[in-house]
Amino acid sequence: MTGGSFSRVGVVGLGTMGAGIAEVLARGGLAVVGIEVDQDALERGRGHLEKSTGRAVKRGKLTEDAQREILGRVTLSTDFADLADCDLVIEAVPERLELKRKVFATLDGVCRADAVLATNTSSLSVTDIAVTTNRPTKIVGVHFFNPAPVMKLVEVIRTVLTEPEAVDRVAALVKDLGKTPVTIGDRAGFVANRLLFGYLNQAAGMLESGHATRDDIDTAMTAGAGLPMGPFTLMDLIGLDTCLEVLEAIHAETRDRRHAPSPLLRELVTAGLLGRKTGRGFYDHG
Ligand code: CAA
Repeated sequence: MTGGSFSRVGVVGLGTMGAGIAEVLARGGLAVVGIEVDQDALERGRGHLEKSTGRAVKRGKLTEDAQREILGRVTLSTDFADLADCDLVIEAVPERLELKRKVFATLDGVCRADAVLATNTSSLSVTDIAVTTNRPTKIVGVHFFNPAPVMKLVEVIRTVLTEPEAVDRVAALVKDLGKTPVTIGDRAGFVANRLLFGYLNQAAGMLESGHATRDDIDTAMTAGAGLPMGPFTLMDLIGLDTCLEVLEAIHAETRDRRHAPSPLLRELVTAGLLGRKTGRGFYDHG
């Protein structure tokens, strides 16, 4: 069966990433327990799941029966105690270290001692999270890309404390789900973001300097470099707040100027213009 040595997987936080991850797991045949802080957030999570699988139905990629089956594998709850039987839990709450530590302390208390606990953090140190638990050998990073149901890569992050078995089991799960794992160490930005975000930040700097327009930069990178999205379309997809967090984390570790967040990016985030999720970022999404 899909899922390798895992059969019941929890997902904490059902925002864009958490809901996408829950969908991937349920599509892979696993029983999923999705946790949110309150009923409103839970309903938003349900909405993400229904919209994303509904899009596949509309495109003829999924039958309505299959959609029902996938959604039927996901149990939604606001009670962490419902994670007690999970053998893996993936945390996907907002990128605040204190919040993640609090979530992991709760997970540590309610989950089985042999359960693996994973974080989908894109910018925080997995080690920082691991050392606040009583099971640092069973803490890994499992970094999906946006949109999770589509993007193939999953970075599996080991800390110096993680036991090899936990890493191997998670990498095997990722493969079973039809994704491509790369297993790497715990450094800010891991691999993909460390390379990608210098480029995105440079694009924002280029726009700010008046060197080229937003549309011309996006066109140059799609039509000229063969990328599926130009840098501004991509930053709006990722969320400008996330972009800023990732850049700050990489810059704090490397002090590399390329990762010093562009003032324009910072200004947009301060103004609450976060991209698609708020309706406006570099583009107006109507
Ligand atoms: N959720 C679920 N499925 C989605 C989706 C979403 N949000 N957006 C698109 N899709 C699916 C579509 O249903 C479609 O599926 P089928 O091929 O099975 O029909 C497929 O993706 C292609 O979609 P479209 O034809 O509508 O659009 P597209 O060809 O432009 O592809 C894209 C959309 C896959 C997002 C593509 O533009 C792309 O790959 N963009 C780059 C995305 C990227 O670089 N992501 C990484 C960001 S960095 C990150 O996430 C890390 C971090 O820590 C911040």
